[in-house]
Amino acid sequence: MDTDEFWKSAEQHVVRYGATFVPRVIKRASGSYVYDEDGSAILDFTSGQMSSVLGHSHPDVVATVSTAVATLDHLFSGMLSEPVVEVSAKLAATLPASLNKVLLLTTGAESNEAAIKMAKLYTGRYEVVSFDRSWHGMTSGAASATFSAGRRGYGPPMPGNLTLPTPNAYRSPFRHSDGSYDWRSELEYGFAIVDAQSSGSLAACLVEPILSSGGIIEPPPGYLARLKELCTERGMLLVVDEAQTGVGRTGTMYAFERDGIVPDLLTLSKTLGAGLPVAAVVTSDEIESVCHERGFLFFTTHVSDPLAAAVALTVLTVVERDGLVDRTARLGRHLGTRLTALKERHEQVGDVRGRGLLQGIELVTDKVGKAPAEDLGARVTAECLRRGLHMNIVQLPGMGGIFRIAPPLTIAEAELDAGLDILDDAIAACLH
Ligand SMILES: Cc1ncc(COP(=O)(O)O)c(C=O)c1O
Repeated sequence: MDTDEFWKSAEQHVVRYGATFVPRVIKRASGSYVYDEDGSAILDFTSGQMSSVLGHSHPDVVATVSTAVATLDHLFSGMLSEPVVEVSAKLAATLPASLNKVLLLTTGAESNEAAIKMAKLYTGRYEVVSFDRSWHGMTSGAASATFSAGRRGYGPPMPGNLTLPTPNAYRSPFRHSDGSYDWRSELEYGFAIVDAQSSGSLAACLVEPILSSGGIIEPPPGYLARLKELCTERGMLLVVDEAQTGVGRTGTMYAFERDGIVPDLLTLSKTLGAGLPVAAVVTSDEIESVCHERGFLFFTTHVSDPLAAAVALTVLTVVERDGLVDRTARLGRHLGTRLTALKERHEQVGDVRGRGLLQGIELVTDKVGKAPAEDLGARVTAECLRRGLHMNIVQLPGMGGIFRIAPPLTIAEAELDAGLDILDDAIAACLH
């Protein structure tokens, strides 16, 4: 099929499900690159959809999938197999002792759906609190807890979904007298509003430890610890959604480790499958057993699939074997230094944030006014693509000036630098 035919046929037959399509036909993907119809290499600074932590077509994953498909692919959902039990034990070994029960699923939304259901069943309550820039997925329960997009036009969301202000140090109106960010007041204020709106049935708080779709918003150190206290005071469970941050992405195995907290429920997805559809909910014996006694039901077609389990097992093994968490911390420091240099060089780079290999820059019209430079974001994205770099701009209204940088954890330092050089040149080219 030639390129014109491809796009004509796409227009005729493919449902448009969100952002506009990248104007290239991708033919193959390998390592840190994807390759288009002309064979041009495009550096993948988004790890696919923020998932391919081992790059594309990692040899260990290829071997695992090939073997699993040939020997033990998919089973009746009531059958358990060795890969499922092994990956559950391996995941538990990477986590604090209380997080030792694993439900193996397929997508991020699904894992949040299951976690929300467990929180409701365990607490006997129904209200779920999340950030007002959150993204937890497209299924009904997860979408009801998603406030950054997609709320209009689909009828009533689930009853009982409430918000906390997103802890955005760059833009929050909550300030100390010296101008620094007063996150404590903002968080206490947020809970006062939650309490005022609550019908007395607070079940859970569901949060990303770094909001990604919300614009790479990193809650300040100590924030999650205080959040956990506020949840405990109210008898709510804390559900941490590490779809994007789990499995080493931020330079620790899990992002919640930075704040020394232990979630009641942890959801993992994108990075756990390194680009293949694998997700998990991890919780405690106590929560699992109460839910089981109360008839917890989450019997899906692909629950406990051996192929998905084998992939996750390989991902965890490679991350550990190749020291990718420490490597990510080191590369993340390098990335942060280079992005900070970009900020110093360009008046339109207003903020740099995130950690490890999940960082972002916010483009503004100028550093004082901080007006979002959405137009510039779109132009820089196109210019980067022309120069061989795929950048992800947040494609949500009012947030079009925020780039999310999340390359594979396996990216070579030279590749990372090459991508940053392209970004730097693209910004300069769009400004002059
Ligand atoms: C933090 C977070 N949670 C959940 C999801 C939903 O995952 P999925 O698209 O696999 O359902 C996403 C997807 O972007 C995400 O970023």
